[in-house]
Amino acid sequence: MKVLIVGSGGRESCLVWKVKQSPLVDEIYIAPGNAGTALLGRNLDIKADDLQSLLGFAKTEKVDLTVVGPEIPLVAGIVDLFEQEGLKVFGPRKDLARLEGSKVFAKELMKKYGVPTADFKVFSKASEAKDYIRKKEAPLVVKADGLAAGKGVVVCKTSDEAFAAVDLIMVEKQFGSSGEKIVIEDCLEGQEASILVFSDGETIVPLVSSQDHKRVFDSDQGPNTGGMGAYSPAPIVNKDVFDKIITEVFKPLIFGLKKEQKIFKGILYAGLMIKDNQMNVLEFNVRFGDPETQAVLPKLKTDLVEVILAIVGGRLSTVNLEWDERFCVCVVLASGGYPGSYRKGKAISGLESLRNCRDIFIFHAGTKQDSQGNFLTDGGRVLNVVGLADTIEETQAKVYKAIENISFENMHYRKDIANKALKFLAR
Ligand code: AMP
Ligand code: GLY
Repeated sequence: MKVLIVGSGGRESCLVWKVKQSPLVDEIYIAPGNAGTALLGRNLDIKADDLQSLLGFAKTEKVDLTVVGPEIPLVAGIVDLFEQEGLKVFGPRKDLARLEGSKVFAKELMKKYGVPTADFKVFSKASEAKDYIRKKEAPLVVKADGLAAGKGVVVCKTSDEAFAAVDLIMVEKQFGSSGEKIVIEDCLEGQEASILVFSDGETIVPLVSSQDHKRVFDSDQGPNTGGMGAYSPAPIVNKDVFDKIITEVFKPLIFGLKKEQKIFKGILYAGLMIKDNQMNVLEFNVRFGDPETQAVLPKLKTDLVEVILAIVGGRLSTVNLEWDERFCVCVVLASGGYPGSYRKGKAISGLESLRNCRDIFIFHAGTKQDSQGNFLTDGGRVLNVVGLADTIEETQAKVYKAIENISFENMHYRKDIANKALKFLAR
């Protein structure tokens, strides 16, 4: 079969790598992809948010299955569009992609179905939001309702910071119409983790837990990024917490929606704050996480294409996931300056030396190849170096040793990915 993968990051490289292992797959197209995906399939000159061109390609080439990486096409309704044309596509329709596309929608659904989440209020007027901040004690979290490339959430330690966040989102309209409404919620403490589940609306099949590292520098210092690394499993999600997340978060939500004739098909990602075995949902995403996917899919032994086809066909109950029990660590190598401004086009060396390294995987993100075949940097997050091994320490050592082989000008990366897992276990 022919599979089209939409997106161009580390997550999509990992999806291509995993999909390629399926005996069901003959050809893979990636729109638009990166230098790494070009080694495994055919990159297309179509942007991930150009829905009409994606549809045109899928129809002309008779693509059998489309897998969407990023949120923008999902929220824009790519699934509805493809389904109307009789094409198979993996992900929720537009009405349920709002779980990620609108924080107000997600919070109100959580309230409706009793899913644990921070107390909140919704505002569409800056003056009323500020009155609320005056009455409430900081810290507070101010969130733009719509998509804002991960930048629409401000954790405010003081009321002044919260006023400034309201001004930024609602008055200066930093995120355009995404900031017409805001959510102000209580600030939660604890450690974050990500739990993703596959669902066809009837059956819920969880993936193994993982943890992202959003801040740019070690010990969670510096500004937020798209994610500087991840590991799986996250020991903070012990069996008790894991079971609670399934019964108190995913089941009420997915089965509640089903009662309303809204069938969630795809992957649902809950970002959670966990403390003393209690958890609260911070956010939902309706897609694979980046970089969590790069730390989770290498552990999946089951054919991903079979799983996706079962979801699209509404027969997920027939699927049983098998997992590699080993630990997985993903470290992101970023361009100097990221998440601020950075230069592109720096030569990357050392990739060849890792090509046949056992249980080490390199997933490209912001990369391109020049006419001589050299790999160059082409984005903020450039490469993901991923390793599998029996213990956390062994996995960290293996990945960081592999990284010593790779270099590009001003390359930077966190040196402490998965330290939190060690610290949690030693507590
Ligand atoms: P979100 O996109 O809603 O997950 O928010 C992005 C990040 O902001 C999360 O990963 C947390 O680090 C932080 N955050 C969001 N909501 C809260 C909250 N209620 N309390 C503390 N931190 C939060
Ligand atoms: N790792 C965060 C995200 O995928 O949104």
